[in-house]
Amino acid sequence: MEGPPGPITAIDGRRYVYFAGTGYLGLAGHPAVVEAGREALQRYGVHTATSRSGFGNNPLTLLVERRAADFFGSEEAFYFSSGYAANHVLLQARGRGADLVLADEASHYCLQEAARLLGKPVETFRHRSAEDLEARLKKRLRRGQFPLVLSDGVFSVSGRLAPVPEYLRVLQNWAPSALHLDDAHGFGVLGEQGRGVWEHFGFWDGRVNSPSPDAAVARFVCGTLAKALGGFGGIVPGSCAFVREVRAASHYYDGASAPSSADAGVSAAALEIVRQQPELRRQLRANIRQLRQGLRALGLEVDDGPAANFSVEIGRASHMRQIHDGLKAAGFLVPYVAAYSGLGPEGVLRFAVCALHTPAMIEDLLSALKPMI
Ligand SMILES: Cc1ncc(COP(=O)(O)O)c(C=O)c1O
Repeated sequence: MEGPPGPITAIDGRRYVYFAGTGYLGLAGHPAVVEAGREALQRYGVHTATSRSGFGNNPLTLLVERRAADFFGSEEAFYFSSGYAANHVLLQARGRGADLVLADEASHYCLQEAARLLGKPVETFRHRSAEDLEARLKKRLRRGQFPLVLSDGVFSVSGRLAPVPEYLRVLQNWAPSALHLDDAHGFGVLGEQGRGVWEHFGFWDGRVNSPSPDAAVARFVCGTLAKALGGFGGIVPGSCAFVREVRAASHYYDGASAPSSADAGVSAAALEIVRQQPELRRQLRANIRQLRQGLRALGLEVDDGPAANFSVEIGRASHMRQIHDGLKAAGFLVPYVAAYSGLGPEGVLRFAVCALHTPAMIEDLLSALKPMI
């Protein structure tokens, strides 16, 4: 990639209309975001070269946390250098009490790895199946034992959502229990305020990452600023007490370099744009609708889901490779994903749409795709 990702980008010397990646609000090349990164480097150097608990709290790191907390409507937020590590950070605080960890079999690598680091029994359940989850709980758990359920909020390739209300209904019978979601692809996209999958299902009510001791099902979430939210690094919003606990438990506060100055600078700027410009989210929603409906009109199996990423299986792997190559030759990039956590043997074509695609770009993609199906 030889330029910033956006609706159009340059790859290997050629310009493409880009329907890939995860920059769903189109902020990674925004001039104000890029300028904020440049200013941050100039003012603070590359990074503080110490942990947050040393002298690593430069004003930008704190600003990111303030703006992230404002965006999520939470008291506080913990910002650290990697979304991949976000599950590890959160589970170190709240996973250790679990008697059994149950993860969706298609959940992201980083979720499954973080689960195994807990040193607790870990099992997987059938992808998005509350029935299978319930059956495994009945088989494996005695009353009074504490189950912790893990899933992506929005699956990174398929764009399908965890069936959150169904999981909560099942877990209600196993109180106390917990549902932990990695919402890397939901933050900034789903929900009226863009707060992600918990908000989408109507559960963003001050109790996510702020569990009361008598909660039947504790609700947790973590994610990244590096996708829709246009910055870089991991983020855990929550109540003051909860964030304090997460910082203390994970050692990312005292044992890891603080996020780099450029990362913090761009993240703070991008969060401000997301707050000031809710129309970006509205435009993204319109684009998601147009692309999903357009693909359906071509006879493909695509639902009306709210995610900006989704995948389509069109025949065999070789056919999808041909479509990928044909679209590329026509100037459109839609990746063929052969293998990723949760995918079947033939792989899929993964589409991602961003707020800055124009209706004409989407129409042109559909016209190019039509004769190839
Ligand atoms: C579900 C999920 N979680 C976490 C990550 C990692 O986040 P980051 O790229 O910010 O490390 C990804 C992919 O990048 C992802 O798809």
